Amino acid sequence: MKKLITLFVTAIFSVTAIADEGMWQPHQLPIIAKQLKKAGLKLNPNDLTDLTGFPMGAIVSLGGCTASFVSDKGLVVTNHHCAYGSIQYNSTEENNLLEQGFLAKKYDQELQAAPGSRVYVTESITEVTKQMKSGLKDDMTGNQRYQHIDSQSKKLVAECESDKAYRCSVVNFHGGLEYYLFKQLTIRDVRIVHAPAKSIGKYGGDVDNWMWPRHTGDYAFYRAYVGKDGKPADYSEDNVPYEPKHHLKVNAKGVDDGDYIMVLGYPGSTNRYRTSEEVINTFTKSYPLTKELMGSMIQDIKDNSAVGSEARIKYESMLAGLSNYEKNRGSMMESYQKGTTEERKVKLNKDLRKWVKAKKSRQQQFGNSIEKLDELVKQSEKTAKRDTLLGYINYASQMMSTASRLHRLAVEKQKEDMQRERGYQERDMNRFTQGMKRINRRFDAKVEMPLVFNLMNRYAQLPNDQRIAEIDRFFSLDDGYNPDKLKSKLAEMYEKTELDKESVRLAWMEKSVADFEKSSDPFIQYAVKTFEARQKLEMQGKEESGQFSEVRPQYMEAIIAYNQSKKLPVYADANSTLRITYGNVKGYSPVDGMRALPFTTLEGITAKDTGVWPFNSPAKQLELIEKKEYGNYYDKKVGSVPVNYLGTLDITGGNSGSPTLNNKAELVGLVFDGVYESIIGDWDYDPTYNRSIHTSVPFMLWVMENVDGAENIIDEMTIVK
Ligand code: ARG
Repeated sequence: MKKLITLFVTAIFSVTAIADEGMWQPHQLPIIAKQLKKAGLKLNPNDLTDLTGFPMGAIVSLGGCTASFVSDKGLVVTNHHCAYGSIQYNSTEENNLLEQGFLAKKYDQELQAAPGSRVYVTESITEVTKQMKSGLKDDMTGNQRYQHIDSQSKKLVAECESDKAYRCSVVNFHGGLEYYLFKQLTIRDVRIVHAPAKSIGKYGGDVDNWMWPRHTGDYAFYRAYVGKDGKPADYSEDNVPYEPKHHLKVNAKGVDDGDYIMVLGYPGSTNRYRTSEEVINTFTKSYPLTKELMGSMIQDIKDNSAVGSEARIKYESMLAGLSNYEKNRGSMMESYQKGTTEERKVKLNKDLRKWVKAKKSRQQQFGNSIEKLDELVKQSEKTAKRDTLLGYINYASQMMSTASRLHRLAVEKQKEDMQRERGYQERDMNRFTQGMKRINRRFDAKVEMPLVFNLMNRYAQLPNDQRIAEIDRFFSLDDGYNPDKLKSKLAEMYEKTELDKESVRLAWMEKSVADFEKSSDPFIQYAVKTFEARQKLEMQGKEESGQFSEVRPQYMEAIIAYNQSKKLPVYADANSTLRITYGNVKGYSPVDGMRALPFTTLEGITAKDTGVWPFNSPAKQLELIEKKEYGNYYDKKVGSVPVNYLGTLDITGGNSGSPTLNNKAELVGLVFDGVYESIIGDWDYDPTYNRSIHTSVPFMLWVMENVDGAENIIDEMTIVK
């Protein structure tokens, strides 16, 4: 009986390993070539391993989102929600591009994307595990280990970046079991070409976000520009469109139920191999806390900026991010409470321990990495709440984070470039400057102050032994906490600071530590007076991270060997690097007794529409639907123009904007979301609920042609009819 059950479980999992589950690294594709062919891929799977060939050469990262080239003149398609920050950046109360949408009919009408926007084209991926691990010794402290790994990585990066057109990075896989060096052409002049109105691009807003059925036109277009010599350059009128070697053809027919589809993109992070201790802590402590914090911050922004006001526009981007993740965490907590994640994770840890203990050779190889890891996790949980709060304060307060970063830059500049902290080397200065400029359209003291008060107020109520004496002293929290006193201290700081001016921020980039120490700007004083205390925290963090980097790889080795013995799929957790996932167009059953169809249609938009945001389609669109003017995009099987569709692809945040490709690698959609029930998949993948949501190419083209008059862009793309 027991044996039979094991066999059965194995069988189910080998089926899921054939499709759906897995975010595969390009070099792994030959290993799963048979499955890819069987699933319906018409290309040679080996072709997908060639990063500079077709179709990989057409896939780009935006840093946090994915996109792809769709013309030989550097036209890039991604999600509306990925271009949101740039559309927001160019919006004002009088000319609100989020509301109206934007279309450049000619190159010279295109708008600069938000400062710091980049298009990254990955040109090579090289395994560097040996180089990274050479010189590591068993008796190193966490800090020594951290420093060693850091300096090995800096050396490899510096070598790789000898050509300034490239940005390189060393990324660890399986928690440091393997390391790879990524070399990316980095395009710095990025412009907005077209975005539909928010009432199409974000139709359904936060009500529909993470939900099916969905009716969102989540697409937008950028263009990548380079200098006349073809090399990446800062923005200049003289720059010319980048000409990529490869771009995707766009299939105007889209897909049918059951069709093979795949997504090539840059998924951010998943946690599929965490210990049960980590899982329990995250779902019972960390997520409830962060969900609550995000909810309260959303409220602060709404309370302190009227809809459509200049202040609100400045915070639309932060608001979208907070709302997105607040709902994300809520779904995960719900699934966790209803489901069996905890039970199964606990059981897995037990089984894994048993499996290791069962053989001497395994004991020797994997040691007591499971126990050690559990120990480390428990240790880092002790100050988790404080660390989370400090992290959120830094995120919410651009004045505090800017002052700290500027001061740190002065400190780091005293060292040789290779000795400087990451983010403060010469290679980072362009980005650093852009970061200082971005604040112009993203800051309003009327909003930031209540956000900071909210978070500091929580910090002030932590038990004494968790607090940082220097921070307490600076805000006078040490002699009996008085919220009103904190409020007036903050008000005074925002009143007095000059860091809200771009020229002032940029000037500080050139100043010395002594200049900072003499400054009377209250935020600079904060940075100076709390510097040592924050350094101490940073060192503790590095010590911890170094300890993890010793234990986690060994633990992962055990997990991998265990999974292989059970024929479970083995692929690395997402880490913002290029991956491939494949599967089919397919509906699902979200709850007992209900089946969700794989397609939504134009008529569904009309049915949902209330005329009030977020269900306020442009009148022109509703009219066209009413008259059944489907144009060239009618799909007989769905009886309309397909708007969004479901797929079985294994994706997560960061995959947003990724091209959905058919079996010939033609563009048939843009992946932009996952269904509510699948969000916990980042920790606990379940094939029954895992569904990706895609904007259909026919819908995108239909709106562009009929609602927005964006024929110039359609003409620029290679359309397959
Ligand atoms: N859930 C999507 C993602 O994480 C973002 C969708 C943005 N839309 C919205 N209504 N907030 O990629």
